[in-house]
Amino acid sequence: MGQPVVKTRSLGKKYGERYAVVDLNVEIRQGQIYGLIGQNGAGKTTLIRMLTGLITPTEGQIELFGECGEQALQKARRRMGSIVETPALYPSMTARANLETQARLLGIADSASVIGEALELAGLDNTGSKKVRDFSLGMRQRLALAQAMLANPEFLVLDEPVNGLDPKGIIENRELLKSLVAEKGMTILISSHILSELSLLATDYGIIDNGRLIKQISVDELQRECRQSIRLLTPEAEKAVSFLKDHFHIKDVEIAARGALGKEIKIFEQLDHITRMNMALCKVDIPVNAISMEGQDLEAYFIKLTSGQPLTGGAA
Ligand SMILES: Nc1ncnc2c1ncn2[C@@H]1O[C@H](COP(=O)(O)OP(=O)(O)OP(=O)(O)O)[C@@H](O)[C@H]1O
Ligand SMILES: [Mg+2]
Repeated sequence: MGQPVVKTRSLGKKYGERYAVVDLNVEIRQGQIYGLIGQNGAGKTTLIRMLTGLITPTEGQIELFGECGEQALQKARRRMGSIVETPALYPSMTARANLETQARLLGIADSASVIGEALELAGLDNTGSKKVRDFSLGMRQRLALAQAMLANPEFLVLDEPVNGLDPKGIIENRELLKSLVAEKGMTILISSHILSELSLLATDYGIIDNGRLIKQISVDELQRECRQSIRLLTPEAEKAVSFLKDHFHIKDVEIAARGALGKEIKIFEQLDHITRMNMALCKVDIPVNAISMEGQDLEAYFIKLTSGQPLTGGAA
């Protein structure tokens, strides 16, 4: 696992009497593409604004690249690039002129080669004298990305970057981000309320709902959670597992604590033998309080964790 890039401790933001986000413990490591997923109003932008320093937390702590404290954070933020609010582009200028202006603002010396590289990366190197006001939405988005990339950041933060892009634009955007991670070893935080936009990209997810981080999970863990399995509830879990290993040759099995009815066993093999397992266990006096087959797709998993509304719902 890579070095920690972001760590928040009990981070919160209160507006008046109301929390926009509360008690956030987020951890993002080097090389991850961290997909922050949550419905409209869940708190994604609020978290991102605090990380980028646009607003100040009312509670808790932020650590960036291992640094905390306001001064150190300011310095650490120079290693970040971000697109948070509607990016500031000058409509009457060309792509190159926009980047030149930004490079001056950032105090980048010898900017010509950096700008050339950024334009190429964003696929805008052939836009010539075309003004930004005549750009398509996708081109503007890519220019914003080029702008965020100018200072050669190690950590890129994108708040709903594909909002309004067409399917082709979404695919292009995804490939571009993937290549940044693969070639430059970058770390990316990307938020969306649309799961399908993140699901082909993210290596890790933070699920945020109603201002709280409900779960943080890697893609590998997630796949395992969603895999088809037999779930079996018994007060004699260890005995049951050793019986199943002996009599059903099961190896891929997990035990988890669960409530008063005993422990839950998850069995990932021999799924069609569910009835036989149940009967065999009863026969040897191992009580089975519940047995079921479970497994779900990503969408269902997220919906179950959040308020139960589809993640694509709500007004933008
Ligand atoms: N400046 C503010 N003043 C008061 N309330 C705010 C402010 N900014 C955000 N909020 C509230 O905080 C909550 C979280 O908002 P936030 O913008 O972080 O959500 P989001 O997940 O980014 O939503 P979306 O998907 O619509 O962009 C909302 O209830 C919002 O109304
Ligand atoms: Mg938002």
